[in-house]
Amino acid sequence: MTALTLSTAAAPGLRADAIVIGVAKGAKGPVVAPGAEAVDKAYDGRLAGVLETLGASGAEGEVTKLPAPAGFKAPLVVAVGLGATPEKDAEYDGEALRKAAGVAARALAGSKKAAFALPLGDSGAVGAVSEGVLLGAYAFEVYKDNGKDAKDAKKNGKAPLAEAALLGGKPRDKEHKAAIERAAAVAEELNRARDLINTPPNDLNPESFAAIATAAGKEHGIKVQVLDEKALTKGGYGGILGVGAGSAAGPRLVKLSYTHSKADKHLALVGKGITYDSGGISLKPAGHNETMKCDMSGAAAVFAAVVAAARLGLRVNITGWLALAENMPSGSATRPGDVLRMYSGKTVEVLNTDAEGRLVLADALWAASQEKPDAIVDVATLTGAMVLALGNRTFGVMANDDAFRSAIVEAAEEVGEASWPMPLPEHLRKGMDSPTADIANMGERMGGGLVAGLFLQEFVGEGITWAHLDIAGPAFNEGGPFGYTPKGGTGSAVRTLVRLAELTAVGDLG
Ligand code: BES
Ligand code: MN
Ligand code: ZN
Repeated sequence: MTALTLSTAAAPGLRADAIVIGVAKGAKGPVVAPGAEAVDKAYDGRLAGVLETLGASGAEGEVTKLPAPAGFKAPLVVAVGLGATPEKDAEYDGEALRKAAGVAARALAGSKKAAFALPLGDSGAVGAVSEGVLLGAYAFEVYKDNGKDAKDAKKNGKAPLAEAALLGGKPRDKEHKAAIERAAAVAEELNRARDLINTPPNDLNPESFAAIATAAGKEHGIKVQVLDEKALTKGGYGGILGVGAGSAAGPRLVKLSYTHSKADKHLALVGKGITYDSGGISLKPAGHNETMKCDMSGAAAVFAAVVAAARLGLRVNITGWLALAENMPSGSATRPGDVLRMYSGKTVEVLNTDAEGRLVLADALWAASQEKPDAIVDVATLTGAMVLALGNRTFGVMANDDAFRSAIVEAAEEVGEASWPMPLPEHLRKGMDSPTADIANMGERMGGGLVAGLFLQEFVGEGITWAHLDIAGPAFNEGGPFGYTPKGGTGSAVRTLVRLAELTAVGDLG
């Protein structure tokens, strides 16, 4: 990952491949953002005009490259768009900085070192720029070596920016230091979640995912317990077993326990971890299965958040549950019409084997409930209906408690993740009535995302505050990169979960 430092160096003397500055959209053309004063001065105060001549407007996502002024050690200036200028006397918004830093870091792929001369008003800005750089520089190159030696790896793509110095950062300031350290822990784990999501399903299956979680647990002092097929059978986890029944790679339930000796609260996080979703016997048609390696994004987010919380030493107990299975058709697969006895004891008639996420989550939610945590949050690429409702960049938030749902939407907003509250209308429950079992795994087609939420709610223990994040839209970016979001696995919900853990730790949630 890109190495980050806070630097008090002056821009002209700095040895780097490039200096990144901010340019915003002013009322009368582009405006040079604070932080770039030394660069502007070297251009005799004409930098805004120079940028305008080059066609820059300050729009978000815009990159303008220009030669550095005489006397500068760095050869290149990269001006990155920040969008609208802030209201009078206000600071640049954290998300605008995060996106701009991400765009610049990606534009500088292949470079060794860049200096970031962006507006760093307070430690919040330091954190945002740091996150933007680390997340924007991300590239998934593991499979791009054409089978050659490691030294030839990356030949198809440029290596991520190796080093970034944040100019105007205060290396001795406690808050600045904490901000950069928090950003590094969160971004490193988030990028690891992206790696897991991008790893093809022939290499990432429930067993190998569990092994990765076990190794990470050892490294970060997190207790990890893995229930394999034998243990799941013994325990009666009919949902996870039913979904995994068709695959040559057996299912797993992974429990990650991070504890803090002074914790007052216990937060449980549950992630959908379908390492590949073919649909099962209700097979998905071509065009709907090419990206279904992303169906473990919820589990990846939970895993990343628990490790990040441990690295940050948050004063809260967190249990992460990864419900891992591969959904495949075969002679041993669950059929539409089969009835599963779930871990909770309820029976489920499987009408569509492609509605598998709710089945594995049901068992994990019930397992999580047995510990009576203060709150449970599950994260899942659960329904295409949620993508239709909210699009590709916004996740839906459902909950059995309105205040908790609002708190989650607010926490997401704080860290720059787009989310939206969704209801759980009771009348949709009867669509899942089954003539044979306690409930069916499908209901009305209309409002399919909410129907799935209502199904999950049936497996949450009595009296436990619970929320469900459907990240089917934002989990995987099939389009081009934007802001600090790469193509492929995005790491959706990781930052929201870490924020929730922080808020729980200080008693502001749950
Ligand atoms: N993993 C899919 C949902 C999904 C769709 C994730 C698009 C990411 C992008 C899920 O398991 C699924 O297949 N859901 C079905 C449920 C239906 C059969 C009730 C769906 O949404 O079509
Ligand atoms: Mn499915
Ligand atoms: Zn799925």
